[in-house]
Amino acid sequence: MKTPGGSDAAKRRAGEHAADLAADGMTVGLGTGSTAAYAIRALGRAVAAGLNVEGVATSYASRELAREVGVPLAALDSVDRVDLAIDGADQVNDDLALIKGGGAAHAREKVVAAAAERFVVVVDPSKERPTLDRPVPVEVLPDARATVRRAIRDLGGTPTPRDAARKDGPVVTDNGNLVLDCDFGVISDPDPLAADLSAVPGVVEHGLFVGLTDEVHVGRADGVTVRTTAGRD
Ligand code: A5P
Repeated sequence: MKTPGGSDAAKRRAGEHAADLAADGMTVGLGTGSTAAYAIRALGRAVAAGLNVEGVATSYASRELAREVGVPLAALDSVDRVDLAIDGADQVNDDLALIKGGGAAHAREKVVAAAAERFVVVVDPSKERPTLDRPVPVEVLPDARATVRRAIRDLGGTPTPRDAARKDGPVVTDNGNLVLDCDFGVISDPDPLAADLSAVPGVVEHGLFVGLTDEVHVGRADGVTVRTTAGRD
């Protein structure tokens, strides 16, 4: 489930601002979604101008875009470290905790974000909320969908299987799994919920990203604001 709204100009400003952080020799995590795509395109232009980086894709979509714009790629399981990861988000709260997974790519996105020395999130202002309140995407093993749904209800959530937009039946992730969008209402303390979700057998990964974000670059009408946990720059 994508967050509706958000201007393309703001997304572009955020994505291009973050792409400027890439430097020669870096391995760069390439996020998924419309905002991260602006960063990937900017990296492609920088590579064409001589920048020497390799990208690690977080999804089929980001891999295809990187190929199209000429960013050299390395496989996630072949790199020792990720220097910089740039990715979008569906919501970001005051503590820089995120809800991700609107594009069902959050499992690989979280692996790349956690491996990164510097995880930079790129958003437009429509993603900013004092408190998280969107449904949390949860990727589940297909055979575990019934048991996971029960566990989500026990945790106080309302799980809805995500259907595909232009295919009959469910969304199937790049990893061959299903997605439940789980409504927990207002999430005032994401940390314990993240731990509870991770502990459910059959959950491959969920879209709560807590304690991973180093910076959020917010594209605005008149420029970019960089938010850190220490406050606004
Ligand atoms: C992909 O699964 C998501 O985590 C995206 O990063 C998120 O949905 C943000 O995408 P947009 O930049 O398109 O809003």
